[in-house]
Amino acid sequence: MKKNKKNIAVLISGSGTNLQSIIDKQNKIGCKVVVVISNKQDAYGLTRAKKAGIPAHFVDHKELKRKEHEKKIIKILQKYKVDLVVLAGYMRILTPYFVRKYKYKLINIHPALLPSFAGTDGYGDTWRYGSKVGGCTIHFVDEGVDTGPIIIQKTNPIKESDTLESFKKRGLKIEHQALPEAIKLFIEGKLKIVGRKVKIRR
Ligand code: GRF
Repeated sequence: MKKNKKNIAVLISGSGTNLQSIIDKQNKIGCKVVVVISNKQDAYGLTRAKKAGIPAHFVDHKELKRKEHEKKIIKILQKYKVDLVVLAGYMRILTPYFVRKYKYKLINIHPALLPSFAGTDGYGDTWRYGSKVGGCTIHFVDEGVDTGPIIIQKTNPIKESDTLESFKKRGLKIEHQALPEAIKLFIEGKLKIVGRKVKIRR
């Protein structure tokens, strides 16, 4: 086993295929997923975590102010001494309170080539716009929505024969490569943030 494995927390809201891609590559990445947190009780990602023996927490946001919900999450993150928080299909906007606490230790995967098609439906918006190329973006989270410094982008050219479903299916496979790659770069200390740019030491 590699020394100095970094502790990662993954926040999810849904099926957790990206979470699975991290779990499957933990050794290769050099990280340990120490906790998974969902704001949705029925998120299949929670089951994936349990199957992998990873503590899985449901933190309901209903009837809580955003900050109160985030405080509950932070309490868990502190307990597990996390080095990096990964948003992998986490469908809630985080407030500056949370973002500041995890500045440059918080990354998100977005299913479009930012700054195009920010928001909740990256695949659908790319598709409906008639773009010829889609893709995904992994970025540090700042106080805006999908606006933080970009770590990696991968393209997904749209074929004439595609449907939204086939475009999305191929896109998810690309996400599953890109996210572990970005986490590995972070963990190996290869990312240097200079203004809006993230320089990668290869
Ligand atoms: C992914 O497309 C991700 O980019 C977006 O939400 C989706 C989550 O999928 N933010 P999964 O839960 O990882 O399967």
